[in-house]
Amino acid sequence: MSTDFPELNPPARILLGPGPSNVHPRVYRAMMAPVIGYLDPQFLQLLDDTQSPLRAVFRTENDLTIPISGTGTLGMEAAVYNVVEPGDTVVVCVNGFFGTRIADMAGRCGAKVVSVKAEWGSVIEPEPVEAALRANPGTKVVCIVHAETSTGILQPLEEIARIAHEHGALLLVDAVTSLTGCELRADEWGLDVVYSATQKCLSAPPGMAPVTFSPQAADVINARRVPCASFYVDVTMLRAYYGEARRYHHTPPMTMLYALREALRIAVEEGLEPRILRHRRHAEALWAGAEAIGLTLHVARPEHRAPPITTVRVPDGIDEMIVRQGLLAEHNIEIGAGFGELQGKVWRIGLMGYASTAQNVLALLHALETQLSRQGFRLDKGAGVAAASRLLNTA
Ligand SMILES: Cc1ncc(COP(=O)(O)O)c(C=O)c1O
Repeated sequence: MSTDFPELNPPARILLGPGPSNVHPRVYRAMMAPVIGYLDPQFLQLLDDTQSPLRAVFRTENDLTIPISGTGTLGMEAAVYNVVEPGDTVVVCVNGFFGTRIADMAGRCGAKVVSVKAEWGSVIEPEPVEAALRANPGTKVVCIVHAETSTGILQPLEEIARIAHEHGALLLVDAVTSLTGCELRADEWGLDVVYSATQKCLSAPPGMAPVTFSPQAADVINARRVPCASFYVDVTMLRAYYGEARRYHHTPPMTMLYALREALRIAVEEGLEPRILRHRRHAEALWAGAEAIGLTLHVARPEHRAPPITTVRVPDGIDEMIVRQGLLAEHNIEIGAGFGELQGKVWRIGLMGYASTAQNVLALLHALETQLSRQGFRLDKGAGVAAASRLLNTA
């Protein structure tokens, strides 16, 4: 083999796209710890230590709260595959890409899937969910995405949880982009199954998916007629390892558990409320700056915008890809393109976890001004940075 196979050297980017976000330096340091055995007492202690901050970030007392070894999509599978059985009726709220994916998974489990649809950029209103539940008595689960990364929507959950429960259904929630970046109260709001991922507001690499199941969801799992269609995410087996029996199921990725542990430590140290406020403050500065540049935010109502992920409309006559390429090549900043129904129509800007800083907001607005004016977009140079700075200085 050639000896000039070069050493790996990826650039240290400023990651302001839909995820992954920048990994916290403390998380990188934790990942350098040696790998030990999955039954090593020190590793088991680490698993136990991780339980309480995991419950804290979900704001739950749920006993069945574990990290799934895989990315957010596997968290989604763990959530869906464990509670859905062939022949069940499942109502899935679809107003973006990830709702569509949940519907796909529920279908693969053999469920009758009833989709409640809204525009990509609108919230799901409670009324059509209630109508779907009335039309489909015996529905087992209602599924919904809290922060839709494809659209920038932050979905209100409490009313939909109430309606689901009134009709005897569980509420299953995707919190991949919202966990520790938005208010999320699993127990208080009545969320029965919630999953997330490490690479967004937790600022660890992609690779772990925390999930939590309410006692009602655990009862549903215990009463299954047929085993979970997936071996890997079957929580009846996983809890035998994460719980007291310590029975082997799969070799957990130790390094990612170190990362998750440190990421949770950082989140709890900062405090959930201050952390959520930080995400909001920086997102509001970005929104003010983008509007001062003359850009339009895709989600019109601020209370429906998810602070960790902002969708900005691409103005007429602007080549959105050239802007993204310019940001990456000249400013070292990554932002995301729109996809699905919003392909070519929006940019997706993430301000997540460690990357949600005033400095990143200002750097991005300055860089956006540069790239847009190069394509002839008429703007008041410096207006975006000035508008954002006004908010940041008063915060
Ligand atoms: C809302 C949402 N759900 C699920 C996923 C899937 O997660 P992953 O890409 O980590 O598998 C993502 C990823 O971006 C997401 O944003």
